[in-house]
Amino acid sequence: MELCGVQLRGPILNGSGTFDAIAARRTFGDALLERFPFDAFVSKTITLAPREGNPPPRLWETPAGLINSIGLPNKGLDGFLAEDLPQLAELPVPLVVSVMGFSRDELAKLVAAVAERPEVAMIELNVSCPNVETGLVMGADPAETARAVERVRPLSERPLIVKLTPNASEPEAVAAAAQEAGADSVSLINTLKGLAFDPDGGGHWLGGGTGGLSGPAVRAVALQQVHAVAGRVAIPVIGMGGISSGSDALDFLRAGATAVAIGTESFRDPAAGRRIASELAALEAREASKGNLAPPPEARMTQTGDSPPTFFRR
Ligand SMILES: Cc1cc2nc3c(=O)[nH]c(=O)nc-3n(C[C@H](O)[C@H](O)[C@H](O)COP(=O)(O)O)c2cc1C
Repeated sequence: MELCGVQLRGPILNGSGTFDAIAARRTFGDALLERFPFDAFVSKTITLAPREGNPPPRLWETPAGLINSIGLPNKGLDGFLAEDLPQLAELPVPLVVSVMGFSRDELAKLVAAVAERPEVAMIELNVSCPNVETGLVMGADPAETARAVERVRPLSERPLIVKLTPNASEPEAVAAAAQEAGADSVSLINTLKGLAFDPDGGGHWLGGGTGGLSGPAVRAVALQQVHAVAGRVAIPVIGMGGISSGSDALDFLRAGATAVAIGTESFRDPAAGRRIASELAALEAREASKGNLAPPPEARMTQTGDSPPTFFRR
């Protein structure tokens, strides 16, 4: 298949920050490359300056999910380009680099530097952070998102994916603004805001205060948002949020996603990507034999509101 002009062997990506391919290579050796779980690899989000991340504890398990407050620890742009990129370039699949800037200038520096590297197939803009110039979370506001994309669009011919936050009043309006400003794709959802208290008292459990909820707990929210966004934009949508089986992945494709990403499930099972790919292939073969094929993209684009699309037959 093809995503934004990049050839992929299948539709399964990882969610940024949920699979450390460099650590996995150390643990599993070349077996990781032979049976790589994803069809494209998305890096952990990098920032311009190195970051320590949040103080521990950084994780809290909920009945059907995970709240994380990692705080984007990373080596910064220079450290990533010098140390991590050469290792990620050895992966047997196209590489997507995820970047986050605390201002449009920072974002521009990141995109310009990453786009120069031939190892990078696509760039994902993680816009779930406050812009220090305006105090607004870039991805929560359509105009703010559009200004960020417009600023970086001329700096790179690489496909730009805008990673949407579910913590926006109307994610489909943000997606439409990103498309209008030149984005090649949107991915969603990032984590939902979450909070946990220390069971022994003493206030917030997470060192960073609040965190982001992911896993099966967010799947229905993600599915609705993917459906709404895919009904609004013509560019490909990468769907994620709580996918833990081929059946979940198929639901996202039915909701209008072109590709899907696996996040929290990879913590439970590092090979989840491959398992979900084979479950999905078996389900698609079964659906095709019943004649329940996904609609062509133009049909997906005309789906609106809550009316269930006709291909929702099982
Ligand atoms: C521990 C952890 C770290 C994450 N780090 C990032 C990150 O660096 N950049 C980003 O865009 N999303 C990050 N995410 C969000 C995931 O990529 C994904 O959007 C979200 O978790 C929903 O998918 P899931 O329910 O399958 O995990 C992180 C999620 C988790 C659980």
